[in-house]
Amino acid sequence: MASILYIYLFISLAAALWPIPVSYKHGDTVLFIKKGVSFYWYEAGARDVGSIANQAPFLLASNSNIGLDTQDSSNLKLRKRYAEFVLGDTEEEDSMREGVTSDEVVEFAINSTWRTIFLQNLYPWKFHPRNWNEPSAQQTANYLSRINIEVLAIEPPNVAKPLAGEFDESYSLTLTEEGLATVRANSSIGIARGLITLTQLFYAHSDKEHVYTPLAPVTIFDKPVFEHRGINLDVSRNFFSVSDIKRQIDACAYNKMNRFHLHVTDSQSWPLEIPSMPKLSAKGAYRPDLVYTSQDFRSMQRYAALQGIEMITEIDMPGHTSSIHHAYPELIAAFNKQPDWNTYAAEPPSGTLKLNSTAVYNFLEKLFDDLLPRISPYSSYFHMGGDEVNRNAYLLDDTVNSNDPAILQPLMQKFVDRIHDRVRGVGLTPVVWEEMLLEWNMTLGSDVIVQSWRSDEAVAQIVAKGHKTLVGNYKYWYLDCGKGQWLDFDPSVSANYWPYIDYCAPFHNWRLVYSYDPLSGIPEENQHLVIGGEAHMWAEQTDPVNLDRMIWPRGSAVAEVLWSGAKDGQGRNRSQIDASPRLSEMRERLVSLGVGAEPIQMPYCTMEGVVCQLGYTD
Ligand SMILES: *[C@@H]1O[C@H](CO)[C@@H](O)[C@H](O)[C@H]1NC(C)=O
Ligand SMILES: *[C@@H]1O[C@H](CO)[C@@H](O)[C@H](O)[C@H]1NC(C)=O
Ligand SMILES: *[C@@H]1O[C@H](CO)[C@@H](O)[C@H](O)[C@H]1NC(C)=O
Ligand SMILES: *[C@@H]1O[C@H](CO)[C@@H](O)[C@H](O)[C@H]1NC(C)=O
Ligand SMILES: *[C@@H]1O[C@H](CO)[C@@H](O)[C@H](O)[C@H]1NC(C)=O
Repeated sequence: MASILYIYLFISLAAALWPIPVSYKHGDTVLFIKKGVSFYWYEAGARDVGSIANQAPFLLASNSNIGLDTQDSSNLKLRKRYAEFVLGDTEEEDSMREGVTSDEVVEFAINSTWRTIFLQNLYPWKFHPRNWNEPSAQQTANYLSRINIEVLAIEPPNVAKPLAGEFDESYSLTLTEEGLATVRANSSIGIARGLITLTQLFYAHSDKEHVYTPLAPVTIFDKPVFEHRGINLDVSRNFFSVSDIKRQIDACAYNKMNRFHLHVTDSQSWPLEIPSMPKLSAKGAYRPDLVYTSQDFRSMQRYAALQGIEMITEIDMPGHTSSIHHAYPELIAAFNKQPDWNTYAAEPPSGTLKLNSTAVYNFLEKLFDDLLPRISPYSSYFHMGGDEVNRNAYLLDDTVNSNDPAILQPLMQKFVDRIHDRVRGVGLTPVVWEEMLLEWNMTLGSDVIVQSWRSDEAVAQIVAKGHKTLVGNYKYWYLDCGKGQWLDFDPSVSANYWPYIDYCAPFHNWRLVYSYDPLSGIPEENQHLVIGGEAHMWAEQTDPVNLDRMIWPRGSAVAEVLWSGAKDGQGRNRSQIDASPRLSEMRERLVSLGVGAEPIQMPYCTMEGVVCQLGYTD
């Protein structure tokens, strides 16, 4: 009797999924799971089993039996069975093939599901009262023995690089008391999302041997509200290693995000190798070895694609380009003006690509010839930046010598048109920052996605002009804010700036991040143009030492707003009281996965239920 009571208490505290699914029903039966669990992968229109056996590119099961069981109620065909997983190095093998296939996405997902459940799981003591009764392996005969994976539809070939909305990421998940789990989806990416939810149903036992779920039976249906859900990481102000970046990609995937925006170059450094112009990174990087080689670049894009995440590369221009000066001084105007850099740029060093220069156009041709074909196997987008262009810099541009908008505007239009034509020429869709549309009055193609950052009004203006937009209002989703100034103030002016807070202070705590509604102030008829958003990690004061904790778990708050929407099923703002324990658990899971996410609350709060609150009336 006592144990039943404890199990009830236990259930009420630990049914946490993040981001929250569209619908989720669960029971209270404990099911254990063994390392020998089998994954059966079924698919619609499975190809001839024989030829698949011959391909077998990633045999992760030591006894992969093909064609073992072709009977299934849903008329799907068995592709493969995985059992007896091999422990070991989890780094993916760097295949030389470009792009990724649906099969690789499914295999990668099966692999990480197994690893997450058995090797990186969470012992949930923080989510139970002191001296709780942990389920005992002896008390139950119930084991989950089989996980069915069912891909219901035949997929188009561009799994690595969908345009927003092209892939159905929905999934259903059932887990019976008898020990069968089934994840169904219309795409391999949906399978990947569903398997991540599956891992969140399981907990590690304190005996360090068993793993169980206390939640059977489970029925879940889930799909995202927004099509574009991402993190933008600035790797120019500070350099991050490939493994730092891959760890962020893992965390994005675990939060069901599907975009990773790499703001790869800026005024401070050019860390991206461009093989046809080796000087660019050799001279423009902070150090010649703080560079992403072509191999690194491909490996990051591929790693993201394997998890259903599209990496979107941004080469910000025409502003934010001073680092080009180190290799090609003739292309940059107003380089590093001191001490009055702030007349010419938002940050030192000032500098901009010249606006009316054949040499600049030739440079861009060469850059794009080199870079865009390396992006197109992994992405449908190219981000050309376009933020914070300072008109005064063109006073010092010998091809223009003016800061008059009437003179600059047509030159900028030509610049943007040439870039966008080139980007479209390799089949990519251009992305720009909002200033190009709202400040420079550019006429943009209807395909162009406009990324907003300055206000909700800007979002409303962008969609009113008929453009798709990405939200990320800096007052909510700039993760760098609130750390104080990084500029040093001379004693003569220092007092004016005391206590040295930055322009977007205060620090945006997770509750503030979570309170942001991407559709706030957008008329209903234009809401479909808000395709999603990104949280931004500008890196003036973030380096590898604090990277994880600067992004996580606040990035998770963004992920839930974008996957589940800012409002709950009844149309109310989502409740912190509901979110907080779930986010706390997500934080623990991220830590188990090796991500240095910050804590949400002290264990007292998560152990005792709803005790750390104000105004709770339920
Ligand atoms: C799965 O993991 C194993 C190691 O456990 C590795 O050898 C294999 O390459 C992985 N497969 C994929 C598709 O990542
Ligand atoms: C798959 O597609 C069908 C038909 O569009 C849809 O009804 C279903 O919700 C989708 N998702 C899943 C998980 O079945
Ligand atoms: C742009 O460059 C062309 C060719 O050098 C020149 O004829 C033209 O006057 C320039 N435009 C402006 C606005 O300076
Ligand atoms: C864009 O239009 C606004 C409003 O008409 C105007 O104030 C601004 O100067 C224009 N910008 C440029 C670069 O022409
Ligand atoms: C819901 O959140 C919005 C911000 O997105 C806020 O303006 C509004 O006041 C909130 N509504 C309630 C009832 O708290």
